[in-house]
Amino acid sequence: MISKIGVIGSGTMGNGIAQVASRAGFEVTLCDVSDAFLDKALATIGKSLQRDVEKDRLGEREKREIIERITPSVNLGDLARVDFIIEAVTEELLIKTELFKQADRIAEPGVILASNTSSISITKLASATSRPDRFIGMHFMNPVPVMKLVEIIRGAATSDETFAITRDLASKMGKTSVEVNDAPGFVSNRVLMPMINEAAFALYEGVASPKDIDDVMKMGMNHPMGPLELADFIGLDVCLAIMNVLYDGFDDSKYRPCPLLKKYVDAGWLGRKSGRGFYQY
Ligand code: 3HC
Repeated sequence: MISKIGVIGSGTMGNGIAQVASRAGFEVTLCDVSDAFLDKALATIGKSLQRDVEKDRLGEREKREIIERITPSVNLGDLARVDFIIEAVTEELLIKTELFKQADRIAEPGVILASNTSSISITKLASATSRPDRFIGMHFMNPVPVMKLVEIIRGAATSDETFAITRDLASKMGKTSVEVNDAPGFVSNRVLMPMINEAAFALYEGVASPKDIDDVMKMGMNHPMGPLELADFIGLDVCLAIMNVLYDGFDDSKYRPCPLLKKYVDAGWLGRKSGRGFYQY
């Protein structure tokens, strides 16, 4: 039975996952490299829960309890006591591989290791561990507390039991899951990122302004955000990294990243997080 969850990485995705897991009643150990990152994550979780307190959907006491069920830690060794581990660190293969090697050594043998990677091969990450059958992708969407979906990705060696346990966990966390086989970009980013990239090309070629491109998709297709606004929300560096995974993974020029996207990333215009992307913040 899973009652304790370890989350590695306390950034946007990691703190969202910790929040949702704790709200569902799980004890959470949230690991990161510094107390400053963890303090920031807990403040973000507090702010996110406060929205629900203000809307009378959560009591002050429940809010406190959700926060108290999350134990921040700068020591990966604390993962020895958890029943399921979800990694949500930066999208870099070497960093993730190194962390999974450590988590593999620390966690009990039966514990499942899950990655929230947005596009790195689950099969490749699993092969860095001694338990590829107990390795899986668990791809949450941003903002995690709001978005219903979790894409559950089976690597080449993921067992049926691992899949079933992970799907059950996602459901207990209040999420709807879809089953996806390991392939570049899975389903979500294979479909989403080419749309964002195409919107960047439309801008690059002077077809329309950012606002007009976004308005077409918002008002014409009922998307909550236009593709350029969404790219700024996700981070242009993340979008570019995912386009590169698709481009390399399929060896197909249809996934060529837009030069404007590359240029903005080179300029440090990464979207909302840096104050400038396709829009100024
Ligand atoms: N925590 C908790 N609740 C939040 C929140 C957060 N961080 N952000 C927004 N909310 C809640 C609000 O409280 C509000 O709740 P209510 O309607 O029940 O009262 C609701 O979400 C809507 O929020 P707002 O009214 O403040 O703002 P919007 O109506 O503009 O919605 C949005 C914001 C939910 C982000 C919406 O614009 C949206 O759905 N955008 C698209 C998001 C999307 O596509 N995400 C997927 C990105 S791709 C991805 O994650 C994959 C990765 O691999 C790249």
